[in-house]
Amino acid sequence: MELYCGKICQDDLDKEVTLNGWCRYIRDHGGKIFVDLADRTGMCQLVFEGHLADNAKELGREYVLNISGTVRLRDKETVDEDNPTGRLEVLVKSLDIISKSETPPFEITDEKKKFLASEDIRLKYRYLDLRRKEMIDNIEFRDKVTKRARRFFWDNDFLELETPTLVKDTYETGARPFIVPSRTKKGMFFSLPQSPQIYKQLAMMSGLGKYFQVARAFRDEDQREDRQPEFTQLDFEVSFKDESYIMSLVEDLIKSIFNDVIGEKLKVPFKKMDYYEAMSKYGSDKPDIRYDYPIIDITDEIKDSDYNIINRVIQAGGSVKAVCFSAEYPNGKVNKDFMLSIIEIAKSNGLKGLTWLFVRDGKLNSIPESIAEAMSKSEEKILNKLKAQEGDIIIFGADMDEDLLLQAIGKARKIIGDKIGKFTEQFSFLWVIDFPLFELDKITGKLKPSHNPFTAPYDEDIKFLDSNPGKVRGRQFDLVLNGNEIGGGAVRINNREMQLKILDMIGIHEEDAMKNFGFLIEALSYGAPKDIGFAIGLDRFVMLLKGAQSIRDFILFPKTKSFESPIDGSPTIIENSRLSDDYNLEIRDKKD
Ligand code: AMO
Repeated sequence: MELYCGKICQDDLDKEVTLNGWCRYIRDHGGKIFVDLADRTGMCQLVFEGHLADNAKELGREYVLNISGTVRLRDKETVDEDNPTGRLEVLVKSLDIISKSETPPFEITDEKKKFLASEDIRLKYRYLDLRRKEMIDNIEFRDKVTKRARRFFWDNDFLELETPTLVKDTYETGARPFIVPSRTKKGMFFSLPQSPQIYKQLAMMSGLGKYFQVARAFRDEDQREDRQPEFTQLDFEVSFKDESYIMSLVEDLIKSIFNDVIGEKLKVPFKKMDYYEAMSKYGSDKPDIRYDYPIIDITDEIKDSDYNIINRVIQAGGSVKAVCFSAEYPNGKVNKDFMLSIIEIAKSNGLKGLTWLFVRDGKLNSIPESIAEAMSKSEEKILNKLKAQEGDIIIFGADMDEDLLLQAIGKARKIIGDKIGKFTEQFSFLWVIDFPLFELDKITGKLKPSHNPFTAPYDEDIKFLDSNPGKVRGRQFDLVLNGNEIGGGAVRINNREMQLKILDMIGIHEEDAMKNFGFLIEALSYGAPKDIGFAIGLDRFVMLLKGAQSIRDFILFPKTKSFESPIDGSPTIIENSRLSDDYNLEIRDKKD
């Protein structure tokens, strides 16, 4: 009987079994050799006795074996209660070494107390790292979530369609695309899709009605801990429906994942918050509401103090925003160094500085004391406005640019909140709705879409498109989990003139619009249904469901933050001769 290493159980006692696996640990006890044989399902102890013990002497770590033997109970003193197979062992009768292994570049171990090799080396030898239980668990978890999602869409009559991966370059729509030169059409390029969106819209125009795809998306953007240049979207689109349909569909999908994969009941519907409330109360369009700690304006309360740096900003028309955290200062998590690091983060987000204080004996305290002293005239008003309690930590900043101030304080709120927040729930889902259709690019002064240029404006806001575009809300909605955006979607423009107008407003005038998106705009002339769609970032979603920190731990062969693929060393140089012969391309020094 062929079994998996982690699956042998009491029922197999005295049975002859065959196992395949990797030699993880080897112990030589004189006449007997013990080997822990591992595969994806776990590990089981093999015992080699007599002449087989002599054969087993040549085994090394990570050798691949095929063995047959009899399952028996272990001696009492060797029982390992932490291992599901730890009461059993297999007395080996035949051994076949399928392949040998060099000494691995790092120890493949699940023992917590053992040193874990650096991520660099683990990514380079990812196939070895994937032999660790933690990694196997992550990959299996992702598989379960994906399978459950697929089943959900199949059960709800969605068609699983495949949109193209070599697509037209539409540079203007978001992040930078990766481009792919064509060999047969020299000098011409495809792009890799930043999302399947245009193609799923076209599928709706075909009348296919309900689409889903576990789709790969590619974005050549700055890397962060929760981003990858290629990532996977749970992507879907529906005709003739609106936001309430998609929101309850997503809630049902996530509820079924919680139920069947995590084994937890999830409360739906999720909370909703409009963009403006999210920004003014939490300084973020993806607020973490596992803890409260809103941002509160204290401009009026602080203006009578002798805190001159702040007063100068107020006199020049700026404002002061504060957050009050309920936590004892100092404590095991928050000390002076931590608060100084928060100041640095606020500075890196554009603030000139950030002040922090704590409440002791009913009074504001600071390090150095001079700050709290300078604020003594405003102390009572501030404590009242913030409803500050004994022990609380307060941060505040001042700036002329209210958006910048809110965002910088919002980022500080998230870092401090994550550390000391009194969480009301483990998973906090939130719909953020009613985004402005446009953002103002502060550098160019031009309008740009806040989601993408295919989002429909609210009917009642269309009248402001010319007179006050900043007031126009887009029918866009994001799903946030614990302060992370895990999905986004929108009602699409299904009218040619409106599509041309929105493109025109963001500086893509008709000629360019037709050049770039002519295929979509033309399709809009041939009968476009009402259309709405959504995409969940699968990698990020599974990472958050597992409570993990790194998206890379949930991707089979991830890229590093510097856009490299350690497993195969890509990207690599392609010889100029090949570039010119096949693609008519040439790499020149930048100075040329
Ligand atoms: P959006 O750009 O919001 O929407 O992307 C959807 C979700 O994908 C995830 N995501 C990423 N995950 C990992 N690495 C990245 N670089 C990355 N970028 C985005 C996020 C995000 O919420 N076409 C629209 C969807 C639609 O309207 O149908 C789109 O792509 O979790």
